[in-house]
Amino acid sequence: MKHEIVEKNVGLMMVLILVVISFGGLVEITPLFFQEATTKPVEGLKPLNALQLEGRDVYVREGCYTCHSQMIRPFRAETERYGHYSVAGEFVYDHPFQWGSKRTGPDLARVGGRYSDDWHYAHLYNPRDVVPESIMPTYGWMNNAKVDGSKTATKMERLRMVGVPYTDEDIAGAQQSINGKQEGNNLVAYSEMDALVAYLQQLGTVLKDAR
Ligand code: HEC
Repeated sequence: MKHEIVEKNVGLMMVLILVVISFGGLVEITPLFFQEATTKPVEGLKPLNALQLEGRDVYVREGCYTCHSQMIRPFRAETERYGHYSVAGEFVYDHPFQWGSKRTGPDLARVGGRYSDDWHYAHLYNPRDVVPESIMPTYGWMNNAKVDGSKTATKMERLRMVGVPYTDEDIAGAQQSINGKQEGNNLVAYSEMDALVAYLQQLGTVLKDAR
């Protein structure tokens, strides 16, 4: 019997099991690369501007994703607390995505606009000043760390290679736009805190009205 050949030959059985499992996996995964629901950006989605992009890199560098997810699941308990559940089209420009897998703190997928900028500055400076029971680390030093805009244009170019629609003007103007903010007659360099808050304040705002 042919079946017996497979049953008595561990090597062959392993190869065949792998073929079956890979086939099952491909059937599930391949369509995701072609379905509109997973590849088409939601209406109004824009690539991050230069400052937000640098803020995102601070978020990644500091490992905020180890305590915060950016993924609202489609359950009532989640949508009542955080807002509309996350949809794939919100993340098509996110490389790599920041969905995370652990919630020591709340989900941040729609934190944009929930608090004022001032709240975020105070919270990042010392979370306990605004949420007394918080266990989040302090990030006050970010006020003194200046954003380095020298690589922003290159980052945008690289992101464009993987499908983020930055225009030539976006890329050409990146360093200039991140040079600093006007305070009176002075140009004051952006801090990493400025960049991080700019990033946080846009999170999830495109679908916010769909609540
Ligand atoms: C050790 C875990 C931990 C890390 C790391 C961490 N946080 Fe938090 N975060 C928390 C906890 C716990 C809370 C809830 C209490 C509070 O609001 O401070 C929180 C709350 C927040 C909130 C308010 C969310 C809301 O809806 O009220 C924001 C915004 C936030 N964190 C941003 C960040 C950013 C940005 C970073 C990275 C620079 C970061 N967190 C790193 C644990 C963490």
